[in-house]
Amino acid sequence: MRTAKDFFAPLAVGAPAPLREMPARPSRAIHFFDPGNEKMAAKVPAMVGTTDVLLGNLEDAVKAENKEKARNGLVKIGQEVANLGSASGPTQFWTRINSLDSPWVLDDLTTLVPAIGDKLDVIMVPKVQGAEDIHYIDRILAQLEAKAGITKPLQVHAILETARGVANVEEICAASPRMQGLSLGPADLAADRRMKTTRVGGGHPGYLVREDAPRDAEGNSQIDAPRPTYQQDLWHYTIARMVDACAMHGIFPYYGPFGDIADVVGCEDQFRNAFLLGCVGAWSLHPKQIAIANKVFSPSVEDVTHARRVIAAMGDGTGAVMLDGKMEDDASVKQCKVMVALAEELAAIDPELKKQYDAISVEA
Ligand code: GLV
Ligand code: MG
Repeated sequence: MRTAKDFFAPLAVGAPAPLREMPARPSRAIHFFDPGNEKMAAKVPAMVGTTDVLLGNLEDAVKAENKEKARNGLVKIGQEVANLGSASGPTQFWTRINSLDSPWVLDDLTTLVPAIGDKLDVIMVPKVQGAEDIHYIDRILAQLEAKAGITKPLQVHAILETARGVANVEEICAASPRMQGLSLGPADLAADRRMKTTRVGGGHPGYLVREDAPRDAEGNSQIDAPRPTYQQDLWHYTIARMVDACAMHGIFPYYGPFGDIADVVGCEDQFRNAFLLGCVGAWSLHPKQIAIANKVFSPSVEDVTHARRVIAAMGDGTGAVMLDGKMEDDASVKQCKVMVALAEELAAIDPELKKQYDAISVEA
């Protein structure tokens, strides 16, 4: 057993004190790049300020023979690119390390933390299975931070992409004060669950419900009559579980990758479902997905206008009022406050949004 007091004690002598609360930093798009790809790496300085998060990916999508090159490329970017990381500007600097059972992860950690641990905000850990994986990362990060003299604790983000990880989602969120959030990893999760899909995120036309068959005058089912079908969301259950686990622990849920880069409409729909269910952002695998995530994960001017009207009409926030024929009460004003708080956070880093939200005038 571990007492509550121990939870906030550093796990190594000289490591920084753990955070007591996870700061809510805008992270609508987590834009992935391969730091070992010279063309992509050269674009990183110009991308600072264009996305909330830049993430140097070391795991899947980087070939085994390029793992070292990617790691070294990330160190160079961390050391040379100006205004990258939340200590120096609005664009956070994250990495996705290799999985804990891989031959590369130990070198990832022991290279990155001393070299750029003061610049990195979040370490994304793939294929997390349970609290034991987070405990391992928690301790080794504390040891490396202490050795390197790092003063601000690195945060940890887990990808939910194994069946066991989903079954253990609450204990993963609770495993360390470093836990910043979770992302849905639909591709690995589909494989691990033995789902019969072959895609990276998104829906599937075969996962549907069909309207009941109409009946003829005798009451017989006309199963061959035209019957509309409705595609269902393969990820609803997992995202809903992830959102509850994150909310319970004061950390942040994200949609992961959407692999069909050309399908900007399908991507926007998936991201919006995640936003409506409580997610704060999604991964971007191509610059055009940054714009989609920024749009979807920023409350619309209409929603912010309505939310401010409800807040103004509700006075001290108790009781009930009628607005446009609808009942508003303590619970709806709380939802409106979530919307307005997010708008204010985003306006603080996004001048274009600020202009739009500032133009709203509220009459109750
Ligand atoms: C992401 O890593 C995924 O497997 O979907
Ligand atoms: Mg994966």
